[in-house]
Amino acid sequence: MRVATIGTGYVGLVCGACLADFGHHVICIDKDADKIAGLSRGEMPIYEPGLHALVHSNVREGRLEFSTGIAGAVGQADAVFIAVGTPSRPGDGHADLSYVYTAAREIAAALGGFTVVVIKSTVPVGTGDEVERIIREARPQADVSVVSNPEFLREGAGIRDFKHPDRIVVGSEDERARDIMAELYRPLYLNAAPMLYTRRRTAELIKYAANAFLATKITFINEIAELCEKVGADVQEVARGIGLDNRIGTKFLHTGPGFGGSCFPKDALALIKIGQDHEAPLRIVETVMAVNDQRKRAMARKVAVALGGDLRGKTIAVLGLTFKPNTDDMREAPSISVITALKDLGAAVRAYDPAGMEQAKRLLPDITYASSAYACADGVDALVIITEWEQFILLSRGGKGLSGLRGCAGPIPEPHRGRVTPTGVGAKVPAS
Ligand SMILES: NC(=O)c1ccc[n+]([C@@H]2O[C@H](COP(=O)([O-])OP(=O)(O)OC[C@H]3O[C@@H](n4cnc5c(N)ncnc54)[C@H](O)[C@@H]3O)[C@@H](O)[C@H]2O)c1
Repeated sequence: MRVATIGTGYVGLVCGACLADFGHHVICIDKDADKIAGLSRGEMPIYEPGLHALVHSNVREGRLEFSTGIAGAVGQADAVFIAVGTPSRPGDGHADLSYVYTAAREIAAALGGFTVVVIKSTVPVGTGDEVERIIREARPQADVSVVSNPEFLREGAGIRDFKHPDRIVVGSEDERARDIMAELYRPLYLNAAPMLYTRRRTAELIKYAANAFLATKITFINEIAELCEKVGADVQEVARGIGLDNRIGTKFLHTGPGFGGSCFPKDALALIKIGQDHEAPLRIVETVMAVNDQRKRAMARKVAVALGGDLRGKTIAVLGLTFKPNTDDMREAPSISVITALKDLGAAVRAYDPAGMEQAKRLLPDITYASSAYACADGVDALVIITEWEQFILLSRGGKGLSGLRGCAGPIPEPHRGRVTPTGVGAKVPAS
């Protein structure tokens, strides 16, 4: 099948490369000429494990191309994926749909024969209706079907998630569109990935409900962690103790500095707004957002307490800046709030991240960046691990920069526990 993706970011590029790997012919389109020029030279615009090799092999086989121009690619496509951003609208927190609607107008102008327009971007309920209206207004005779096909991949594991999804959600009641979607995803279907056909509005809501539920799980265990600290219980054991119950599950029960990233905060906020607009308020999600916001700055206060209450004149090392490991994405990373709060409390901050420092420098220009984890930790008063990059797990095994550090507050990266929990806080043992 012939496919065009509009928007070649984390989702559009992974989706395009994977669909090409399934054997389809894919053209990834983006307005950002530098991004497309880089991709055409074989340079990846994002850090995503396995992406470079996947893109390279499919370009070589002639199944994957990149372009800034929409016309030819869309005119010949059986399916056009909209994978543009839907950030929070400044001021009110609703999803900003301007990129989606612009893409819809551009697609309308370029449509050829029967085309399925697939909305991959995370969009509020009813967006598919509006995209269809925009296209029909511009091209009343166009033979087109608008489908919702939300994406559930996680950055850092994007290719694996796309190729081995827990489910594929297709929101459409149009048989022709469903047939094309089934053909596009046939390799996954053969692998027994469940294909869930729903109404378009249902599919749109599934994505928001999934993200809000996961954010709730994270926030729940973070609140339980606070209680554990007060009563002398171990939150990791509590998490395991409840997670082994199949009705609960072990995932998303790792305590940390609060959720961040390009999706959870904006999607939870957008869902709250959708609920308010429809007079079906989502009080649980509202509370989750409030608790999560407070948690990030509270992490900085924990560091201050671990150092005797005052951070003036102290240097804090921060390991991990990206919102999760295995990505360079700094959007809404908790590290931004934690570091800002540490600085507000008077600390000097030195940071290291394996992949996110270039992006971080734009958001956090006033801190020092180290060339390695050990250089970061050398001589500091406290070490804060924010992102659980795998390479940080081994650091406490007698690493020279970490000697003399002992956990004082929060879950501590124990050398023998085998797993580092963000935000572990280690502080220098005061000389006694
Ligand atoms: N990042 C994730 O992990 C993830 C996971 C699931 C769903 N989503 C959703 O997928 C959507 C895309 O997210 P992302 O992280 O890939 O965004 P992104 O910001 O990385 O990429 C979006 C791209 O779209 C391009 N673009 C915007 N308007 C365009 C147009 N008219 N024509 C061509 N290109 C255009 C931008 O230049 C940019 O490169 C969002 O709705 C997001 O919520 C993201």
